[in-house]
Amino acid sequence: PRPILLTRHGESRDNVRGRIGGDSAISDSGELYAKKLANFVERRLKNEKAASIWTSTLQRTILTASPIGGFPKIQWRALDEINAGVCDGMTYEEIKKNMPEEYESRKKDKLRYRYPRGESYLDVIQRLEPVIIELERQRAPVVVISHQAVLRALYAYFADRPLKEIPHIEMPLHTIIEIQMGVTGVQEKRYKLM
Ligand code: G3H
Repeated sequence: PRPILLTRHGESRDNVRGRIGGDSAISDSGELYAKKLANFVERRLKNEKAASIWTSTLQRTILTASPIGGFPKIQWRALDEINAGVCDGMTYEEIKKNMPEEYESRKKDKLRYRYPRGESYLDVIQRLEPVIIELERQRAPVVVISHQAVLRALYAYFADRPLKEIPHIEMPLHTIIEIQMGVTGVQEKRYKLM
């Protein structure tokens, strides 16, 4: 059966600075991950001619996909990171200091909390529906290179995790989660590349 490979982009320059959102490039460590990922994908999907690589429209996922050769790449706006609205580009510390009410409401209900002029996790889950339909339709393997919040939602769908857990699922950098959908249910493997 076809696997789905989920991964976050390689570490971004904003990850290093602790800033959320934005559209920064990847760090040197992120570049190294991109090379290791390419190596892994090219071996793992060697005989899978119809496989494809899906990214968001943000630089950090496109750059992470760029060393992968031999497969078509498709950009989805629906795979872009949760939109942090007025908090885009801030650190969590800055949000806590400058917008304490926002910080507290998000802490209280991270699933439903919507950033002013941005999105909530529930919004993200909703916009992922067409991506999920298309993933279910694929017969060939797909590598999804996206972002923490989005991958939490996608992973929860395939791993059948409850809605309320989604914002708290651990989604480490530089790790591939391979999901296999077989007759006996869903199997998962993790590959920590760095
Ligand atoms: O930039 C957004 C983060 O990747 C989402 O993480 O929902 O845990 O704040 P968070």
